[in-house]
Amino acid sequence: MAKKNVAIFVSGSGSNLQAIIDAKIESANIAVVVCNNPKAFSIQRAKDHNIPVEIIDHKVFSSREDFEKEIIRRLEKYRVALVVLAGFMRVLTPLFVNHYKDRIINLHPALLPSFPGINSALQALEYGVKITGCTVHFVDNGVDTGPIILQSSVNITNDETEESLLKKIHNEEYKIFPKAVELFCEEKLRIQGRRVLILD
Ligand code: GRF
Repeated sequence: MAKKNVAIFVSGSGSNLQAIIDAKIESANIAVVVCNNPKAFSIQRAKDHNIPVEIIDHKVFSSREDFEKEIIRRLEKYRVALVVLAGFMRVLTPLFVNHYKDRIINLHPALLPSFPGINSALQALEYGVKITGCTVHFVDNGVDTGPIILQSSVNITNDETEESLLKKIHNEEYKIFPKAVELFCEEKLRIQGRRVLILD
């Protein structure tokens, strides 16, 4: 099976981008990194691995749709099979989501459907749950609502802080996110309504 071209969207540090690079997934070619923040450390990570970077600063566009049209235009030449949102801090509108329907995956630092949105680790800690974790899911037109591909859990201990919890969650993210990319690129995922079946 030919390698699939993957675009990784980032806004910040890019430790998950790094995890995907380091996983050296045979079925995936990281064709491009798209970054909306010209100061993000992720840009350096991509350059260090000779991955093309498209920096598209959302602040120069007057609407979300104009921003997304520019992303779609710049992505054309990379012939992308999968868009991976790896800490991309912009909500995507139906314009973009429908363009790449069922070909966008996102990583969320909680066990969805619990604690969607931002500051999910802190939300979990303050709520008092004993278990939280991370989720990789397909992106639909809601926020953190799409069909779930993989999840991994972590325990919250008595002395937990937001920082210690984030560290544990990140460690799980670095395992399940590259795995989900691999499963997609090996064509092992089937969406059936809300469920995602993983083929052997
Ligand atoms: C991750 O915790 C991910 O769950 C969330 O954003 C964070 C990105 O971190 N969506 P990094 O930029 O990959 O280090």
